[in-house]
Amino acid sequence: MLENASNCTSPVMGTGIIFPATASQNVSPEVLLGGSTSLIIISLLAFASLCIFLYSFFKNWDIADFGFAIVSAFQLQPMTFIKDFDAKAMSKMFQSSDKGNFLESNHAQDAWKPILSVESAAGEDWQKLRAALLKVLKQIQWQERLQPILTKVLEDAEAVLDCKQLKIIVMKVLFELVTGNALPSDAIGNILKGVDAWTVSLAGKGVGDYAAKAWVLKFMQEAVEAMPERPFDKDDIYTMSAIMQPLFVSPLINVPDVFAVAEKHLPGLSSEERLQVASSPIVSEAFLKECLRIGHPFPIIERRVPGMVGSYQITCRYDVMCQSGPGFDMSRWLQCPVSGASSHQGGYSPPKMGTCPYENMLFGAGPRRCQGKELALTLMRSILMHYADSSHKFQPSNGHGISGRTNDDIGSAAEDLHKGMVILKTIYKTSVICAPLRMFTGTSWVGH
Ligand code: HEM
Repeated sequence: MLENASNCTSPVMGTGIIFPATASQNVSPEVLLGGSTSLIIISLLAFASLCIFLYSFFKNWDIADFGFAIVSAFQLQPMTFIKDFDAKAMSKMFQSSDKGNFLESNHAQDAWKPILSVESAAGEDWQKLRAALLKVLKQIQWQERLQPILTKVLEDAEAVLDCKQLKIIVMKVLFELVTGNALPSDAIGNILKGVDAWTVSLAGKGVGDYAAKAWVLKFMQEAVEAMPERPFDKDDIYTMSAIMQPLFVSPLINVPDVFAVAEKHLPGLSSEERLQVASSPIVSEAFLKECLRIGHPFPIIERRVPGMVGSYQITCRYDVMCQSGPGFDMSRWLQCPVSGASSHQGGYSPPKMGTCPYENMLFGAGPRRCQGKELALTLMRSILMHYADSSHKFQPSNGHGISGRTNDDIGSAAEDLHKGMVILKTIYKTSVICAPLRMFTGTSWVGH
């Protein structure tokens, strides 16, 4: 029987798999079946191992990780993520001035139009923007002028700080700081519309109304033209961008984000601590810095850094890092020097030397570090101290919509879809395989 069977030319049936037997094969069915079973077991084991490997590798990945990984794969470029706070790895990242070829270059620069962004620009544009900003900062003498303007604007402000009121305070202060004139109240509505349009675009949740952004640029050009002695050239896009991006529109997006985090953590303080936040610049600054550490308004920092074999991209996920870090504890900042110390009377006397390990995370470090750290802290400290003593007065989350960061998870399906489109557009703009197509069609038609 066995011999007959082995000479049979019809297929051999076993465990659901068909093996054609030939006359030249002198192998018994048991051996054949045994071999096929081993093969199946080996295949299943290999498949299971692959699944376990893929699961353990990707288990902490979210959609953004896959998006970044796909973009880098299409660019044939290595990329790493930093998701847990790592002072050494971040210090290396901050040493580079190159933001690479990812979202800053291919999404944010388009989203910022019709102005340029100092934070996102590269090469010659970046150099020119930094030079223009330096000139603007020197001209406005913010160190002497910011505090009196703040005091005046806060005196006239509403008793309750909701998100709209916060934006109005920030825009009034920064407009007067740059132009020397009070902000005309009939411009507020259109500025808010313009800032919303930039916010939608930058968050990747849609295409913000371009006309609303262009209105703000035109309004600022006219305001600059009306300045006595005309220190700034309204037709120079670098000057106008240096005035508008870091000194107007960005703070109008970032400060409400920081204050929304502040509103969440103020109730967790003891009543004595809360009073100190409202009365001591040192404690107020420590509180704000801890809000930045635990809920930074920038979701992602990007850099291209030199490696052993060519350069590679780093995507530093602040959004993930802030959530996975230690819990809220403003006292960590009271053990470090703080910039509000000079104006403090009594109470805390923080050390003059040393740095909090998280310090560089807040405003960056190296060639692309924040150029407005002290200005931003002074602005936020004063507003916080004005309102923080009562939870009735301090409601900055009220009316706070989407940003690049806060409330990002409450978007509509259309907004989420647009985020996917941002990834696809970045792939088109940067991938190697789309290079021939780009030669004919360019990239500008894609938008952001
Ligand atoms: C809540 C307020 C602010 C926060 C949290 C903040 C934070 C930061 C951070 C983390 C960076 C580094 C980004 C990177 O490394 O890729 C940065 C860059 C920058 N910041 Fe700020 N900033 C704030 C307000 C301001 C203000 C008021 C100014 C006004 C001068 C300003 C000017 C800049 C500029 C010009 C850069 C880009 C520097 C460059 O790329 O050359 N920032 N900011």
